[in-house]
Amino acid sequence: YEIYLNGMTGAVPRLPTDLTRLAELTEQRLGSGPVGYVAGGAGDGSTDRANRAALDRLRIVPRVLRDVHARDLSVHVLGRTLPAPVALAPIGVLSILHPEAEGAAARAAAARGVPYIHSSAASTPIEQVAEALGDAERWFQLYWSKDREVTRSFLTRARDTGFTVLFVTLDTPLLAWRPRDLDQAYLPFLRGVGTANYFTDPAFQAGLARPVHEDPDAAVMHFIGLFSDPSNTWPDLAFLRENWDGPIVLKGVLHPDDARAAADAGMDGVVVSNHGGRQVAGAIGAADALPAVVDAVGDRLDILFDSGVRSGADIAKVLALGARAVLIGRPYAYGLALDGQAGVDHVIRCLLAELDLTLALSGHATPATFTAADLRREGDR
Ligand code: FNR
Repeated sequence: YEIYLNGMTGAVPRLPTDLTRLAELTEQRLGSGPVGYVAGGAGDGSTDRANRAALDRLRIVPRVLRDVHARDLSVHVLGRTLPAPVALAPIGVLSILHPEAEGAAARAAAARGVPYIHSSAASTPIEQVAEALGDAERWFQLYWSKDREVTRSFLTRARDTGFTVLFVTLDTPLLAWRPRDLDQAYLPFLRGVGTANYFTDPAFQAGLARPVHEDPDAAVMHFIGLFSDPSNTWPDLAFLRENWDGPIVLKGVLHPDDARAAADAGMDGVVVSNHGGRQVAGAIGAADALPAVVDAVGDRLDILFDSGVRSGADIAKVLALGARAVLIGRPYAYGLALDGQAGVDHVIRCLLAELDLTLALSGHATPATFTAADLRREGDR
């Protein structure tokens, strides 16, 4: 009610509460380069559109006269209880958008009890983000480097700084065909801001002929060369298990057979995701892929979800389909670009408030009772 009450005194929020407007405002503020990096999708953008279409086709059938005065958004996921079924997705090189970058996103998330997933491609080193997170959950995302020593070093640094949950992103063995990045020559951004998480890594530095500050271009080329390993297959997951004690979640799973393979390999969860439509053009909308994955492994793995979520109602829909928690991508990146930590906080508050209202107005006091039976897919009877 805070926003409504503020309205009585004429105090309007600094950013719009319709989060779909943030991209356009960011473009007005920062120009098309940074927005191209965030908004861009693979190929013709059809996967991004499929993500939206899949969510839009799902319609909630609200129920009435149910006691919803006392409500609780908390959920149990990956062995911990979260205050709400929401986390911030890993996003690399946030310093393209704001000088406080990942630190500001981490502080905003920590203040709301929402886990922030730190990207291995971040512009802020793990150690600094760990400090920004304070007592909050520390979740780390790995791009599985061609150089095993770099991967091992990342895992060691993450463990030593208190990170507990590992997300391994599998849909990016190669960077995709992304016209907006290609057309604006993305590399200058990387050179300008660096991927400091790599540049400060001892194993990464050991692979350079000259120190990063003496030859930053060579460091960027080295980063691109070892970024991700397209030769990995399922047995390689054993390497990660040997080097990580906590839960491991595979990010970027869309096929139920891959979800089964994840469970068979002893993983703890999957994120049903198409990387926000940034990898395979023409891919299935993530919300269309979710039900088959839930059927396949819902009783063996924690299933998380991302790609295309822009509102509390979207979050409610994917929870109903069986996801335990939802990762938010672009909206918080735009919030950061527009207003730093306060902008990320705005996005989190809007999403949680709308999720709470959507569930309550649909007749549910907790996410647990809201299920696929409360949805219809448009076109189905
Ligand atoms: C990403 N994503 C991503 N994922 C990951 O595992 N590591 C990373 O470093 C990045 N970097 C990244 C940068 C940018 C600019 C975007 C938009 C996305 C993917 C991200 O974690 C998530 O899967 C999507 O953003 C979810 O889709 P929406 O919410 O953006 O539609």
